[in-house]
Amino acid sequence: MKEASRKWPKLRLGKHESKYPLIQGGMGVRISGPRLAGAVAKAGGVGTIASVGLAVCSPLYDGKNYFEVNKKVIRDDIALARSIAPVGVIAVNAMVALTDYEDHVRAACEGGADVIISGSGLPLRLPEIAAGYPDVALVPIVSSTKAAKIINRRWEKHYGRLPDGFVVETPLYAGGHLGVTRQQQVDDEAYSLEHIIPELVAYLEEEAKVDIPVIAAGGIWDRDDMERMFSLGARGVQLGTRFATTVEGDASQGFKDVLINAKAEDVVVIKSPVGIPGRVLRTPFVKEYLQERVKSKPCFANCLSHCAYRNERKAFCIAQALVDAFRGNYEEGLFFCGSNVSRINRMEKVDEIFQELFGEGS
Ligand SMILES: Cc1cc2nc3c(=O)[nH]c(=O)nc-3n(C[C@H](O)[C@H](O)[C@H](O)COP(=O)(O)O)c2cc1C
Repeated sequence: MKEASRKWPKLRLGKHESKYPLIQGGMGVRISGPRLAGAVAKAGGVGTIASVGLAVCSPLYDGKNYFEVNKKVIRDDIALARSIAPVGVIAVNAMVALTDYEDHVRAACEGGADVIISGSGLPLRLPEIAAGYPDVALVPIVSSTKAAKIINRRWEKHYGRLPDGFVVETPLYAGGHLGVTRQQQVDDEAYSLEHIIPELVAYLEEEAKVDIPVIAAGGIWDRDDMERMFSLGARGVQLGTRFATTVEGDASQGFKDVLINAKAEDVVVIKSPVGIPGRVLRTPFVKEYLQERVKSKPCFANCLSHCAYRNERKAFCIAQALVDAFRGNYEEGLFFCGSNVSRINRMEKVDEIFQELFGEGS
């Protein structure tokens, strides 16, 4: 690829620096697996494997060994991604809300991940869980400066260390679970990247006086979006939806086709069984859910620490619905997506995206 002559910000996460300041966001279940993460890392970005629910897509899973198989697949997936990108930066996205969160973090460290990116709750104990792996960079996902401050103070007081980066994900546009508790907050400009990024950068530089890179996520698509984020003080961007339908993406062709055919008006925010809002496509399954008529498949693994379906038989088993989406089951699947999903009109190659974002003459 011919590189543009301009200089991009340097994105250094702990000991790891990627060629380009771009993280491909973790996307579960199995939407960003080792093939996508490996391709992104090879292209010069940070490739992220989503750790959630991997067992279900593994031939080793026999219906009873969910937690054991999860750990094994995380390690195997890192090895596969590493074989695609021997010198690239490989991250694992582990969600705090998972019952076996600690096992995921440990498996990622043992498997040789360079970075752990962790959200869906505040990763307050992450340094303790990853202790013994000082080379692994730890990056929380937050939606507010307040959350970043809480994490900084807690990590410094209890563990004598600070995060190696903060991903700021805005609920206004991002795909997947959104980092706010109430539906009304989803459109609140107070959670926009234009508001949070400069505020967080100012807090880190002027008040805390620490050098921690801030990475912007949610609704970022092209070079203009990226440059706007850099002008706000971000040192990196994280993109999810645009990578979900890439040729190298780990999802089924059926999943990719559903996103490629989606229109702007198909995107809706629902209350997820986890208890927070999530941005998804209005598929037949979601329509039934919105009319309170949805029939859930049974809970198979107790995978979440808070789940309205397991606890009260309200909503549905989200793990099952996400696995159905991964397999391309339009009728029964829950398809997470960002608000810019309607901009996808074909499968792109990972290299093409990097060329468009960072290459010369694009
Ligand atoms: C299909 C899909 C699944 C996702 N799954 C996860 C996940 O498992 N963990 C997580 O922290 N974020 C998850 N996200 C959020 C992405 O990592 C990323 O931050 C977000 O999509 C950025 O917004 P964008 O899609 O507008 O680029 C998911 C997003 C999508 C579209």
